[in-house]
Amino acid sequence: MPAKNVTVNRAALGHRIAYALRHPRRVPRHMSRAARDAWLRCRRPDHIAYYRAVMRSDTRADPDAAVGSSSRERWLALGAMQFDYLVGHGLRPEHRLLEIGCGNLRAGWRFIRHLEAGHYYGIDISPDILFAAQDTVVEMELQKRLPTLTPVRDLTLRFLPDAHFDVIHAHSVFSHSPLPVIEECLAEVGRILAPGGWFDFTFDRTEGEEHQVLREDFYYRTGTLLALADKYGLAARFMDDWEELPHGQSKIRVTHGPAHESSSERP
Ligand SMILES: C[S@@+](CC[C@H](N)C(=O)[O-])C[C@H]1O[C@@H](n2cnc3c(N)ncnc32)[C@H](O)[C@@H]1O
Repeated sequence: MPAKNVTVNRAALGHRIAYALRHPRRVPRHMSRAARDAWLRCRRPDHIAYYRAVMRSDTRADPDAAVGSSSRERWLALGAMQFDYLVGHGLRPEHRLLEIGCGNLRAGWRFIRHLEAGHYYGIDISPDILFAAQDTVVEMELQKRLPTLTPVRDLTLRFLPDAHFDVIHAHSVFSHSPLPVIEECLAEVGRILAPGGWFDFTFDRTEGEEHQVLREDFYYRTGTLLALADKYGLAARFMDDWEELPHGQSKIRVTHGPAHESSSERP
């Protein structure tokens, strides 16, 4: 994995031409993806419906590729990276974990195996990738861990209980999300986060102009996301130790803000 490039604007015409000249063999695939995405977008102007359709098409071709892994080996390695990081930060079997955008359980199957039965809850906007997630549960023989896998329409999280989850995890989800979707999640996530719990999410970071490519990949400045968390009374910090890992995205950790922690201490 090359070092993160946080200055380039991938939507800029100059970048696209230079990239095409450097990688001519990738051009036909990109063109066909762009045409497919344009077709899906014009039929589904709502972002979630559009991205659900992208996932449907990608999952039919290959569920591992649909979550961004070019091979089973990469799928296993990326899941292990997420898992090792969270365990290194204190994820314990008795914790209750919500995975937002769980995909086909690339990391999820390891969480399910690590946690007590019934303590894993995965949500995703794509029913098709959740069917593939069920296949992963079978393949990894994790039926007795009774994971919950639930399709969602949005990230209001309104059907989940207050102060329930010790750890909330979203890997490579906000990198595919426009800002209003991220804001919806940050506005609501504090309600379901247990006292002392944390919410980690990755994002595609830019230090230049914020931009998106094909409405599939979104690039944000760290400050934008930290400010959004702050708007909803959450504390958020950039995770420097994640930067040391061979991964193209960055990570932010969100916890309850000081106002919430002091009010929950009151008798
Ligand atoms: C790149 S995949 C990553 C899957 C998983 N987190 C992993 O690391 O393997 C992104 C996943 O997030 C889901 N997703 C995208 N936007 C979402 C949203 N707003 N709410 C819930 N899931 C979402 C997609 O359907 C897809 O399964």
